[in-house]
Amino acid sequence: MSICVGVDIGGTKIAASAVRADGTVLARGRRETPARDADQIVLAVADVVRELKDQGRAQGEDIVAVGAACAGFIDRSGETVLFAPNLAWRHEPLKDRLEEAIPLPVVLENDANAAAWGEFRFGAGRGQTDMVMVTLGTGVGGGVIVAGQLLRGAHGMGAEVGHLRVVPDGHRCGCGNKGCWEMYASGSALVREARQLVAGGSPHAGGLADRCGRDPQRLTGTMVTEVARTGDPAAVELLEDIGRWTGEGLASLTAILDPSILVVGGGVSAAGDLVLEPTRAAFGRHLSGRGHRAHAPIALAQLGNDAGMIGVADLAAASLRPPAGHG
Ligand code: BGC
Ligand code: NA
Ligand code: ZN
Repeated sequence: MSICVGVDIGGTKIAASAVRADGTVLARGRRETPARDADQIVLAVADVVRELKDQGRAQGEDIVAVGAACAGFIDRSGETVLFAPNLAWRHEPLKDRLEEAIPLPVVLENDANAAAWGEFRFGAGRGQTDMVMVTLGTGVGGGVIVAGQLLRGAHGMGAEVGHLRVVPDGHRCGCGNKGCWEMYASGSALVREARQLVAGGSPHAGGLADRCGRDPQRLTGTMVTEVARTGDPAAVELLEDIGRWTGEGLASLTAILDPSILVVGGGVSAAGDLVLEPTRAAFGRHLSGRGHRAHAPIALAQLGNDAGMIGVADLAAASLRPPAGHG
């Protein structure tokens, strides 16, 4: 049998999996992301793919293609990372460079598109036709499936939902604009708000302050979730705020796309109901035409951190198949 490798190139780590045709994972590998250096990143990806190739061969499996998911704007031809608001990529011809270094056919995809495709094929979106996924992490990523197809737009950069403006003159975003959704609903927003709360010294923030040894800079999103799980009101409120922004945004997206399911993933989604309940409440309150229409369910991503790797491996496999509909 032939299998594909899916690689998720993130800001801190490169995670890779050898993925079978049914979306299950055969083997995994990971590397630290070399600090902001495109050449080093290419070498690290090639290295982890080589490791998985060897592991696959030991189990009688051949790796035939590689999919790479990246947190940025990828051109329609799938060759170049044009821009990444939270990474150093600028007009990076990543497909060619990876194919030279690996060498196998490589498919590039936006990280959130890849995660959405993974969930659509093998996770929370199975059996649906129209799906919207948001990933709440360093940024806010979006993946949109319309009638079973990934929406890419004319230039490849559709579904960049994190950069919808939700606050006029709001916080400055890595994309250059102000008030983008990802400045309010991302894991980075959660950490920013939590740190500010702790830095302000309010007794309300006592639980969070204890968790980070009173050093706001040490506070992480995972810590906020941990503290919230103990019922700490400040931490719960911070996650509620993320949920409220998420739900309002999903209601706006629903006005355009009318999906049959909405899926929430990314690091913050590890908080589960602490973020999903307020998301659902805000969604219900802001949905246009409420009372006259079906409410699409808001589901937690099922594949967790694997969604992007599994999705992009499946896209790589699909790229090797001849297009259907001839003959
Ligand atoms: C980027 C997207 C990416 C998302 C999640 C956003 O800032 O513009 O391309 O999908 O973050 O990583
Ligand atoms: Na996207
Ligand atoms: Zn932005």
